[in-house]
Amino acid sequence: PPIVGGTTTLTAQNVTANSNEFGNVKGLGYSSGGLLGPTIKVNSGQSMNVNFVNQLNEKTNIHWHGLKIPANMDGHPENFINAGGSFNYNFTVNQRAGLYWYHPHADGTTGKQVFQGLAGLVIVNDSEETALNLPSGNRELPLVIQDKRISAGSILYAPTMMDQMAGLMGQYILVNGVYAPSHNVETAKYRVRILNGSNARIYNLALSNGASFTVIGNDGGLLATPQTVNSLTVAPGERADLIIDFSSMGLNSELFLISKTFIGGNAQGKQEFKIMKFKVTTQVVDNFSIPTTLSSIAPLTESMATKTRNFEISNVDSGSMSGMMMHTINNKSYDANRIDELVPNGAVEIWTFDNTNGQEPHPMHLHGVQFQILNRTGGRGTLTALEKGWKDMALCMPGEKVKIIVPFNGYTGKFVFHCHNLEHEETGMMGQFQVS
Ligand code: C2O
Ligand code: CU
Ligand code: CU
Repeated sequence: PPIVGGTTTLTAQNVTANSNEFGNVKGLGYSSGGLLGPTIKVNSGQSMNVNFVNQLNEKTNIHWHGLKIPANMDGHPENFINAGGSFNYNFTVNQRAGLYWYHPHADGTTGKQVFQGLAGLVIVNDSEETALNLPSGNRELPLVIQDKRISAGSILYAPTMMDQMAGLMGQYILVNGVYAPSHNVETAKYRVRILNGSNARIYNLALSNGASFTVIGNDGGLLATPQTVNSLTVAPGERADLIIDFSSMGLNSELFLISKTFIGGNAQGKQEFKIMKFKVTTQVVDNFSIPTTLSSIAPLTESMATKTRNFEISNVDSGSMSGMMMHTINNKSYDANRIDELVPNGAVEIWTFDNTNGQEPHPMHLHGVQFQILNRTGGRGTLTALEKGWKDMALCMPGEKVKIIVPFNGYTGKFVFHCHNLEHEETGMMGQFQVS
């Protein structure tokens, strides 16, 4: 996708995109260019002025995932734009450098529209990051990884009861809207910036030769220090900023970014996949070495919190009324007319997501804030390399309880929090908090 600045027009529309194997595929995009939308690049402190036009035949809107912006700009489910309408998103970006993203958030059409192609990246830069001289230009690769169901030349969204239970997953893994892409690389270190933009699929990223790679950032920007791993679990909504080193590879050799199986979730959700291919086509001398310190991050501690809230996320109802699967938070499904949590502006709070008795993974997300993860008990136990630093997502696998600490130091107003498995979200797994 093209890269644009903070002042731009996004037009939700039907598109036909060339997706390799499948030839032309019908889906949705934010420009006539194809699936997804342009990558928007801004510096922290700069403002964004996005003219949004809805050319779909149903409601939609834009949520700026991870950005701390005023409530009326955040794409709350009730602030939707009707078919044929438009809206001006205008706000100042005032936060850490990082990979953020945008996608629809109207109640009832979010899962479908994201699956069919509506999503895009926002890259925020700041002086702390610039000073590190990380790989850039053709050595910086922003990748949106998404699974799709493609049938008769269209991206098909028709969740069954089973899909509502597990979340809708597809057999084809697209990278930036393209199936099984191949990318030519030099013998150098690359900054690979990944968004898992899938509705429900979790990836356990690895390299086909088993080599390690380095995690330098996540949802909320750079980590304090680089973390070396051999595999990395990335849930829907999460971002992973990686350094992959091709420098010891021979000319013409190939390496795949793959997803390995993992513990937790259902069988369909932990299949192995080849995601994309890297092919070494140029030998160069690369002098970049990963800085030992990346960012200054003050860890928040439990004693800073003035309140703890517990959220039971284990339960699923078979929804006797509607015949629909219902997912809940504290046994409540989403109600636009109910505020679930009242939060004093400026408070620091501990929120605990309890999936101890659950059967499904739940990647939990809060709007309007960035938080830190304090700990995990049950299941995988310790935090992963991706769970240090600042986050806006917290993955709770079956059997796990995850405790986060949240400074509500953004904007006042009404925001939502929800499971980012979009079928879970659409079947009720969302609540509202009011900061005032
Ligand atoms: Cu990316 Cu409310 O979500
Ligand atoms: Cu969000
Ligand atoms: Cu969920």
